[in-house]
Amino acid sequence: MKIGIAGTGRMGAAIAARLSSVGHEMMVWNRSADKARATGFKIADSPQALAGACEALISMLTDAAAVQSVYAQMLSGNVNEKLFIEMSTVRPEVSRKVGSLVKQKQAAFVECPVGGTIGPAKEGKLFGFAGAEKADFERARPLLEQMCRRVEHLGPAGAGASMKLAINLPLLVYWQALGEAISLVKGLNLEPGRLMDILADTSGAPRMLANRAPAIAAALGGKEGPVSVNIDTLKKDLSEIVEESKLLGWSAPATEGALRGFAAASAAGLGGKDCVQMPVFWSAQPKKL
Ligand SMILES: NC(=O)c1ccc[n+]([C@@H]2O[C@H](COP(=O)([O-])OP(=O)(O)OC[C@H]3O[C@@H](n4cnc5c(N)ncnc54)[C@H](OP(=O)(O)O)[C@@H]3O)[C@@H](O)[C@H]2O)c1
Repeated sequence: MKIGIAGTGRMGAAIAARLSSVGHEMMVWNRSADKARATGFKIADSPQALAGACEALISMLTDAAAVQSVYAQMLSGNVNEKLFIEMSTVRPEVSRKVGSLVKQKQAAFVECPVGGTIGPAKEGKLFGFAGAEKADFERARPLLEQMCRRVEHLGPAGAGASMKLAINLPLLVYWQALGEAISLVKGLNLEPGRLMDILADTSGAPRMLANRAPAIAAALGGKEGPVSVNIDTLKKDLSEIVEESKLLGWSAPATEGALRGFAAASAAGLGGKDCVQMPVFWSAQPKKL
């Protein structure tokens, strides 16, 4: 199938590589042309040209502003009967609005934000949280199954976005909690690898520590590795969760606390750094914040 990827950031580029590896013909568009070129795939001049040239369009963009802007451009031409799969992490109302614009153009729309990072994206092992009309979901399912180890269709557009925020909530609060936990035992002066090995081997540890504990230990030891997801992206997710909770009439004190921690890290200039720097930052400066 001829597939267009709008947004070849970390996740978009990884998804493009995966879909190419299973035999699809790829075309890409990215706001900054260098990242589009780095994929090695055919490049469209604009989101409109991408949508015109491809049968299925996948978007993987930072936030609501990016999604709305790129969809306005992709939908400006004739997109009759094309399939749009929106995978960015945004609030349900953004997904519903974009989905309704797509449906007005007689095209199919599936939102499918994902759990999992660059490695799983390259291997087709993401966890997809889909929201769509049933027929649109069934049409997208074969592609989604090439990107994901598991896909759950949770309801109409907006349902997948809700679930994605829900699965991110405890994980993102954990990054802040880990910074606070490390602060508590700083005085023991443990070697970072040993400290993370202990913390990862307890019931309080989320599954992601199995993969990330060595990178966190390295970061605690002052070594910086590649970025898989940056602090500003997770700060954006925490803000979305707080906003969504307010809209639903719930308070979210744990999320608000974590957001304050991420905002402090961002204000200290760490917004572009990998998430493993979050507990390092917090445990280094507990008294100032
Ligand atoms: N990284 C992860 O592990 C992970 C996992 C699950 C979900 N997600 C979600 O996936 C999405 C992408 O994350 P990422 O880590 O791949 O981020 P990223 O590497 O920062 O890529 C973001 C992409 O969005 C584009 N973009 C931003 N603002 C734009 C605008 N106004 N107009 C057009 N394009 C715009 C960027 O273009 P430029 O290159 O021009 O800046 C880039 O292509 C986010 O919603 C994130 O929450 C990420």
